[in-house]
Amino acid sequence: MSGHIAIAIDGPAASGKSTLARLLSEALGLTMVNSGEMYRAVTWKVLKSGVDPSDAEAVAKALEQMDIECGVENRLSTIAIDGVRLGPELRTEEVNRSVSLVSAVPEVREKLVDLQRGFLKFTDLVMEGRDIGTVVFPDTPFKIYVDADADVRAERRVAAGEVDAVHDRDREDSSRKTAPLKVAEGAAVLDTSKHTIESGVDAALEILSEQGLKR
Ligand code: DC
Repeated sequence: MSGHIAIAIDGPAASGKSTLARLLSEALGLTMVNSGEMYRAVTWKVLKSGVDPSDAEAVAKALEQMDIECGVENRLSTIAIDGVRLGPELRTEEVNRSVSLVSAVPEVREKLVDLQRGFLKFTDLVMEGRDIGTVVFPDTPFKIYVDADADVRAERRVAAGEVDAVHDRDREDSSRKTAPLKVAEGAAVLDTSKHTIESGVDAALEILSEQGLKR
């Protein structure tokens, strides 16, 4: 065990967890790791290589050829595959459509969970995702499950024109066999529909202090 602390932030798409995790990491001076970007990066590479994202065996095989490099820059996680540093290309419609398929492949999860745990060897962090409190860092005492009313979440994505995809993605992410999205043991549930961004951060800081986080 390293002496570093991990704060696990899980929740469905458009729950507000990314914003919350980022602001928390800033408030606490910790590194912010976006695990969804790692699943998106593998998905991007799968698509770019012409591999069918619904063919789990082919995805696992393609993964073996990938050189995935994780890092931290300005307290934010970075990801490169085969030397290509990835950013905006991770948020395209194509990636949105295929990321749940790719992230359901056990070999993909095994590899990325390993890399995610690797961050803790050198830094304290806030990590956001779907299985951080259940699988990646089940022993951390600091866990928040972020949720929001379905209509609030839908509203947040209307502008992005992504509502149907988000619903499909949540269904797939919650029903898959390996590491489905669910509330981790010991996690506090924070409903962001009842909060402004600022009051949501305050509520999260209070939860973390109740969970024993010293600032
Ligand atoms: O957080 P996000 O919406 O960018 O994540 C994209 C997809 O990646 C999400 O639909 C499911 C998958 N994911 C996952 O399976 N496990 C994680 N810890 C993070 C994301």
